[in-house]
Amino acid sequence: MTKQQSVWVSRPLFPEVLASLAQYVDVRVETKEAKRTQAQLRAKLADVDGAIVGLSDRVDASVVAGNRRLRAIANLGVGYNNLDLAALTAAGILATNTPDVLTQTVADYAWALLLAAARRVNSAERWLRAGRWRGGMRFDDWLGLDVHGKTLGILGMGRIGQAVARRASGFDMSVIYHNRSRLPEAAEREYRAVWVDKAELLQQADHLVLVLPYTAQSHHAIGAAELAQMKRSAVLVNIARGGIVDDVALAAALREGRLAAAGLDVFEGEPAVNPALRELENAVLSPHIASASADTRRAMAQLAADNLLAALGHGPRAGHPPS
Ligand code: DGY
Repeated sequence: MTKQQSVWVSRPLFPEVLASLAQYVDVRVETKEAKRTQAQLRAKLADVDGAIVGLSDRVDASVVAGNRRLRAIANLGVGYNNLDLAALTAAGILATNTPDVLTQTVADYAWALLLAAARRVNSAERWLRAGRWRGGMRFDDWLGLDVHGKTLGILGMGRIGQAVARRASGFDMSVIYHNRSRLPEAAEREYRAVWVDKAELLQQADHLVLVLPYTAQSHHAIGAAELAQMKRSAVLVNIARGGIVDDVALAAALREGRLAAAGLDVFEGEPAVNPALRELENAVLSPHIASASADTRRAMAQLAADNLLAALGHGPRAGHPPS
């Protein structure tokens, strides 16, 4: 049977997810992930009803201008700063994202980065692999920073921030957080989390995790001035978006010992990574993999597909508008 609607999928996805789409619509899938220009995206979207895109696909006004067919864009991610929502709304195109399904996996990864950076795991492993471990265990070598019993700071206290906070009790940590709006009292009690203003968060946190969305307001929320307020012994973890941290200022602070260490999953201008960061032994770097467990990536892909189908009038589930 010929299907009346077509969708474009900007990267390879799990076969079962593609099959679920193909029950209802004609599916065009790219065989490899690529960073596409606005003109290339515009051409890909010219004759489809919907699309599944990822964070490297910047869908803005120039991409959808004059497109009378496109009705829905499903983003593979909870963050959607790659979509120009105003332009999509003006063009009558529904946008969806993938909240909830990745919350716990991303929160786990924040802890992986915090622990790895504080305890120098990656650096020690590189040293060992280079065959430099001679003699026994040196008592005064590879000294890292404790995580348990310290004060964890969280900037941004949405779903993922709260999941990070929940895990802190297992490490006997005190939690302080800053967010535009305070959590209800019951949630603060549950996470043993105390709201503080941003300056206090920066000054008091032994370790700071960034979990806020990237917007014009959060651009460089952590820059030279903010880093200067943090403890020299602090670890900074960014699992949110690259542009939230000024990478140049961060590299300088790490190099000059004004900040002990950083765990970074996201970068300004990724996949490019500031060479100054790449050279630092006290920076643990990973290629935007916080949500990359097999189960979670499959769940994200399926939710994006379900959202798209719902937006195009198929399937039982309602689309998730970005929240
Ligand atoms: C998201 O969902 O926004 C994550 O950054 C993807 O891993």
